[in-house]
Amino acid sequence: MTTATEAGTAEATAPEAARTLFTALTGREPDGLWSAPGRVNLIGEHTDYNDGFVLPFAIPQRTVAAVGIRADDRSRVFVASTFADEPVEVALDELQELFPTAAGAEPGVAEWAAYPLGVAWALGQDGVRGPGVDIAIASDVPVGAGLSSSAAIEGATASALNDLWSAGLDRTALARIGRRAENEAVGAPTGIMDQMASMLGEPDAAIFLDCRSLETRLVPLGMAEAGLALLVMDTRVKHAHSTGGYGERRASCERGASIMGVPALRDLSVDDLPRAQELMDDVTFRRVRHVVTENQRVLDTVEVLRTRGARAIGDLLVASHASMRDDFEISVPELDTAVDAALAAGALGARMTGGGFGGAAIALVEQDAVQSVSDAVTAAFADAGFAAPTLFTVTPSAGAGRDA
Ligand code: GLA
Repeated sequence: MTTATEAGTAEATAPEAARTLFTALTGREPDGLWSAPGRVNLIGEHTDYNDGFVLPFAIPQRTVAAVGIRADDRSRVFVASTFADEPVEVALDELQELFPTAAGAEPGVAEWAAYPLGVAWALGQDGVRGPGVDIAIASDVPVGAGLSSSAAIEGATASALNDLWSAGLDRTALARIGRRAENEAVGAPTGIMDQMASMLGEPDAAIFLDCRSLETRLVPLGMAEAGLALLVMDTRVKHAHSTGGYGERRASCERGASIMGVPALRDLSVDDLPRAQELMDDVTFRRVRHVVTENQRVLDTVEVLRTRGARAIGDLLVASHASMRDDFEISVPELDTAVDAALAAGALGARMTGGGFGGAAIALVEQDAVQSVSDAVTAAFADAGFAAPTLFTVTPSAGAGRDA
């Protein structure tokens, strides 16, 4: 996806751009604006689809959907976005001919459109119907950076349709709708972390999520009070979930759980690892070891945050990155360079965040070291001959909802 500027100027904020695009294409004002944020994951990677624990938070960057019930009474969904040239229009009744998308196949519509249309379809699968709608989408969430631009589209669309179709679903139910769109309309075999973070985000807190029960607990981070900042280091190496590596990792995890005779890797502890090593080939074992130790690191991080505060979680972040690099093998040289350079420049901890194979890393840094750490990372990328990274700080922010 590229960022087109047809709907306005490149400087327009996402709410302005969504509203302008809606009005340009429909000749009327939308009924409302709904938005949902991207996320970073503080720790707990590739644990969600293993029924494990994660600790993400919503970021300030948001996707906005300007939505209105159609003026012509036709039962159709029309979707347009500032990052695509062509709008897409489909009859609500035809959505079930488009989806589900077979595993590994391309969706039957442009991929970006499969997210909002997939949400409408997933709601329909749950018996939620409503009148035809026009949807115009704009976003500040960088695409392909591992910051959940897709969950943000799903969350904004699901929030809008939930209101306009009077579905009355709660945030967790809307997160499930988003994941279903991602899995069965887009065809990406992801877990539910991103959608839950985008729906349930709160300022200054991370969301401790049990991906089996979907119970959540807000964990205060107190970053500003501690004089700390979280730096996002977007390598600008694009990742794509629906291809290869992610699905292979997921399959290895399922194989590992089945060899151990448990429903999911969540049901193993670090004490089970010696037996796992005896029973499995080396690659499967290392995939299992990552997930089992990462689950424990999430629990440890929550405890350390409570007892000692954000300043003390750096080593857990570093251990998480090493496990993803060496055992799960989802890092890339750009991510390792970002992490290593940030640590060498004084970051308290750093790790890649999200699905891997590109995307972004995060670093926990003193507020007054944001510039020096950023400069060091930029210099390390130049030395390595990599394209310049995009660096910015994020604070935990509110989840999805209606804005206007
Ligand atoms: C992607 C997926 C999530 C999760 C992470 C890895 O972001 O969408 O469900 O699996 O990767 O932790």
